[in-house]
Amino acid sequence: MEKKFYLENVVYQIYPRSFCDSNGDGIGDINGIISKLDYLQDLGVGILWLSPIYKSPLDDIGYDVSDYMDIHPDYGTLADMDNLISEAKKRGMRIVMDLVVNHTSDEHAWFIASKDINSPYHKFYYWRKGRANNKKPPNNWDSMFSGSAWKYDKDVDMWYLHLYGEKQVDLDYHNEEVIQEVEKILKFWLDRGVYGFRCDVINQIYKTSLANGRKRLYMTGKEHYLNQPGNHLILKRFYDDVFSKYDCFTVGETYNIDINETKKFVDHELTMCFNFEHLNLERAKIPVFKKKYRPATLKKVIKKWQENLDWNTNVFENHDQHRSIERFGSLDYYEESGKMLAMLLLTLRGTPYIYQGEEIGMADNSYASLDEINDISAHKVYAQIKKIFPFFSEKKIMEMVDLNNRDHSRTPMQWDDSMYGGFSTSKPWIKDNPVDCQRTNVKKALADPTSLFHFYKELIRIRKDNPVLSYGKIRFLPANKNVLAYYRYDNNDSFLVVVNLAKKKIKNAFYEDGEIVLSSYQRKDLLSLDYLMPYECYLVKCK
Ligand code: NOJ
Repeated sequence: MEKKFYLENVVYQIYPRSFCDSNGDGIGDINGIISKLDYLQDLGVGILWLSPIYKSPLDDIGYDVSDYMDIHPDYGTLADMDNLISEAKKRGMRIVMDLVVNHTSDEHAWFIASKDINSPYHKFYYWRKGRANNKKPPNNWDSMFSGSAWKYDKDVDMWYLHLYGEKQVDLDYHNEEVIQEVEKILKFWLDRGVYGFRCDVINQIYKTSLANGRKRLYMTGKEHYLNQPGNHLILKRFYDDVFSKYDCFTVGETYNIDINETKKFVDHELTMCFNFEHLNLERAKIPVFKKKYRPATLKKVIKKWQENLDWNTNVFENHDQHRSIERFGSLDYYEESGKMLAMLLLTLRGTPYIYQGEEIGMADNSYASLDEINDISAHKVYAQIKKIFPFFSEKKIMEMVDLNNRDHSRTPMQWDDSMYGGFSTSKPWIKDNPVDCQRTNVKKALADPTSLFHFYKELIRIRKDNPVLSYGKIRFLPANKNVLAYYRYDNNDSFLVVVNLAKKKIKNAFYEDGEIVLSSYQRKDLLSLDYLMPYECYLVKCK
């Protein structure tokens, strides 16, 4: 494999609004990020992916962009951004932007202009007359945030398509001018020195037709817009015209995608794709219903992707997900389960993605009522459940909403145990988690050499010092259904990784001639390792 920065470096996702506030307004900002670059360098990460910081009405906290070439004043200015890029570079780190081009905000100048049917911008979006004499939406598609994917605009007397919120309007990629405008955005940022893009819902950008979809309980219409052949042609265009001309990388947020489909996207389109199969294990087909999580299923899914895809993205958290420890481990064993997840992230084959706070084991928050929740999708889901299941109790509805409440991972970064966790001197823009802040915070983690933070740091160091952990092959060993055991190897080196995914004590079957280089239970000696304790993991450098 040819050596590449993104193959041997770890990505750290920053949710800027909740990372660090430098000016005391309760909102994280670019200067706040700059003030924490030394911390990130110490952790050892190489690539910083920022969730959107562009101008935006913030209906979906920036995933609704109103100007792709400017910064939201809450976060700072373009000059601050240039400063961040150069300060990161000084520390050997590169910045990745979030590219949100399936849709623009309804406050984007293109959309405002598009309301004039004679404007060239009218064709930037899907404006259509509705069915039944314009009384009903043009087709039966669902919005991902529930309800119809169409909104009627009385001034235009037409409907527009929005696969997400009503203020997130889908662009029409049949229009050559849209493609050219997006290429301008890509070049604008690459020329400013960013290293690449995380591409939001990038496998939905091309709508082959606007015909009715087969009726489904969720995502009606998807056969017309998910993973379409036209989608691949557009990404190939971006690659040929732009990406291939820069030293850059792209990662696709590709929802609802299998391994074969992923292979198409990484063939001269995107560098890599997120796979979310393992992050949906405790959701039923209709995502408001819960399903029991089983470690053995996590093992199966991980093994399948690792064995069948050349390069994976190793990820357990992001700004749309609940925190990972309670999902895949347990808060009673938060250090142990956090370390188990860290071991997988950093030793499976693929680029590791750490989400802010994951390195100190931040946990979910609690929400007594909808009023405490900021997330737009949670509000939409609440309204939809109320409509479909009016007989459900408020408690039951809130449980269902909670499964889809994305605020859990958006709480302010816990820097210390002071008021507002050292995130800001003012009340944060989103409900914070003072209880969790006492349990875990950066200050406390830094002071304890056995903390989860130090385990992450050590794993990152070991991964960097041993290229076999990035470039080497992977081979799984037969093991207990709750245990993942694998070799990472090349012609010169080999490591054995053993991970107990469960809370149970399990007989250990792996003795290897070698030295334990990292163990979540601080073991030094392989021979005494008769049993794997709950969530135990260790890494052996083989002789
Ligand atoms: C995926 C993003 O991760 C999510 O936060 C956002 O709401 C949707 N795309 C729409 O942009």
